[in-house]
Amino acid sequence: MRKKVTIVGAGMTGGAIAQVMAERGYADVVLLDIIEGMPQGKALDISESAPWAGFSGSITGTNDWVDSAGSDVVLVTSGVPRKPGMTREDLLATNASIVRSVVGSVAEHSPDTILIILANPMDAMCHVALEASGFPSTRVIGQGGMLDSSRYRTFISMELGVSVRDVNAWVLGGHTEATMVPLVSNASVGGVPITALMAQDRIDAVVNRTTKGGAEIVALLKTGSAFVAPAWAIAEMAEAVLFDEKRVLPSCVLLGGEYGVNDAYVGAPVTLGAGGAEAIHEFELSESEAEGVRAAGAAVLELVAETPSS
Ligand code: 2OP
Repeated sequence: MRKKVTIVGAGMTGGAIAQVMAERGYADVVLLDIIEGMPQGKALDISESAPWAGFSGSITGTNDWVDSAGSDVVLVTSGVPRKPGMTREDLLATNASIVRSVVGSVAEHSPDTILIILANPMDAMCHVALEASGFPSTRVIGQGGMLDSSRYRTFISMELGVSVRDVNAWVLGGHTEATMVPLVSNASVGGVPITALMAQDRIDAVVNRTTKGGAEIVALLKTGSAFVAPAWAIAEMAEAVLFDEKRVLPSCVLLGGEYGVNDAYVGAPVTLGAGGAEAIHEFELSESEAEGVRAAGAAVLELVAETPSS
């Protein structure tokens, strides 16, 4: 039986995810939005690429939650993106009410699904989704670290002029500029620590560019935020869940004491499989990295406290 993936929100990011998932060809894709015509138009456009792109799965654009019923994975992109000068945190009130309503409908129509949240501020939106769904925390996961790690790897590869495929570098902590923790202590290229390849000031520059990576794109686009790299990032996570791959990927999960963080959604290395977030892996970080992850936990709890309850 084919897998079913629903993408909620047919904006730039939702549309890009639909295209990536459709091209992978192993799942039927539902693209859902309240705006009439937009999900249908994007789905039809993607469908019409199939003869050349060579995929045979179905892609449905809809405004009706019934079409999403029984999804194996639901990817939530709903909400507004930031504009130049805004932080992700500025979107808190607007996106919380959208995410709350959307996730309530997800839980009604796909009660056994795994939710992956992309809406910003993502870490806080995971708390909203957890509450609105009533799901166990293993089935409510956020995407942030995948994208941030993708940027970190890209910037290291640009700095060193090496293939990004050999760059092994991860970002934990939160998905905001203030709370992101690009790990230097275990970053490597082909097994060689980046500290042996780059001067400290260049490492600092790459780390700084990584934490501001989303804002860099927003400032260039002026009308919205990044959507291609986020689409690939979330597609990798969805695939790990759909095929029970047990991949260990940076994911935003509810920590229960790991890294000194309690009851807060923070990015950590997580085994992703059919059960969602199946295991959270804790390992020794440098002192400043460990402090950064703890600070991310405190920061998201502050945002949760500020989140309007309806
Ligand atoms: C980003 O970092 C939109 O949060 C997303 O680009």
